[in-house]
Amino acid sequence: MTQLGTGQATKPAARTLPDAQTVTEVRHWTDKLFSFRCTRPTSLRFRSGEFVMLGLMDERGKPLLRAYSIASPNWDDELEFYSIKVPDGPLTSRLQHIQPGDQIILRPKPVGTLVHDALLPGKRLWMLATGTGVAPFASLIRDPETYDKFETVILMHTCREQAELEYGRELVENLRDDPLIGEMVADRLLYYPTTTRENSPQMGRVTDNLSSGKVFTDLGIDGPMDPASDRAMICGSLAFNIDVKAILEGWGLREGANSEPREFVVEKAFVGDGV
Ligand code: FAD
Ligand code: A2P
Repeated sequence: MTQLGTGQATKPAARTLPDAQTVTEVRHWTDKLFSFRCTRPTSLRFRSGEFVMLGLMDERGKPLLRAYSIASPNWDDELEFYSIKVPDGPLTSRLQHIQPGDQIILRPKPVGTLVHDALLPGKRLWMLATGTGVAPFASLIRDPETYDKFETVILMHTCREQAELEYGRELVENLRDDPLIGEMVADRLLYYPTTTRENSPQMGRVTDNLSSGKVFTDLGIDGPMDPASDRAMICGSLAFNIDVKAILEGWGLREGANSEPREFVVEKAFVGDGV
């Protein structure tokens, strides 16, 4: 039996399996969050914002796969992912222990709705996320196409505590010095991180900061969203997605899809218990 994953990979044998990729870097951000990079299949083409199925072999030698947003942009030679650690989660209880050199399984069939193709042209692009829902936006804010298509890009990311914002915060900071995209991003990427259960410079739920108009005031931009020029992408828990969608629809924006581009698109960051 061939096993993939920490402490059990017989690497030469694993390489012969289809869809095996090698982990190149792992970073732990909190006790519940980590990110990792791996090799990219030469055949994999994807649109920034899409997700793939990835995972490890289970004890019986069967692939145990879960949906993961690709957090790296489509020009990157490697792939990056940002992951939760669910203590008893079938996949992440093991995936959180991967190390550089380990192998994971990755099905190279990207899909998803958080893509430019599913939005009508506009001037401002809003990216609204909670928790690991920031992952598709980590890809999109690094894609030059985002800045070709929109004059202003606004990333709102909310977590309970500051440490959970760190992956996104570091990414945005580094982006401003990036030789490829730094100049493009400069003052056109507005970053609005907030916490809800720990004091921090900016606080509050995305929904409250949109409804009250606080985010527009804080960023010094016009509000509310205008269906003629504002476009949005939403990625969080089911409850978050439903509540944000209601606010945007109240402002006259309509949900779009790959087959019917409109003013906003939604994707679940995870499938919750019993949902
Ligand atoms: P599971 O049995 O899958 O989940 C157990 C429980 O843990 C769930 O019922 C839920 O309550 C909770 N949970 C699962 N995932 C999360 C999460 N991300 N945040 C908060 N609570 C969660 N997960 C990522 O970490 N990063 C991603 O980029 C990512 N992209 C996804 C894209 C899509 C379209 C979907 C549908 C899911 C995505 N997920 C992502 C969730 C992922 O597919 C798995 O659920 C997660 O890796 C946990 O797997 P598991 O087998 O350990 O636990
Ligand atoms: P809050 O702390 O007020 O519940 P979680 O860790 O539970 O997945 O939540 C991640 C973040 O998303 C938290 O800051 C949480 O705020 C926020 N959140 C959860 N549900 C909603 C919702 N329906 N609308 C807006 N924000 C939400």
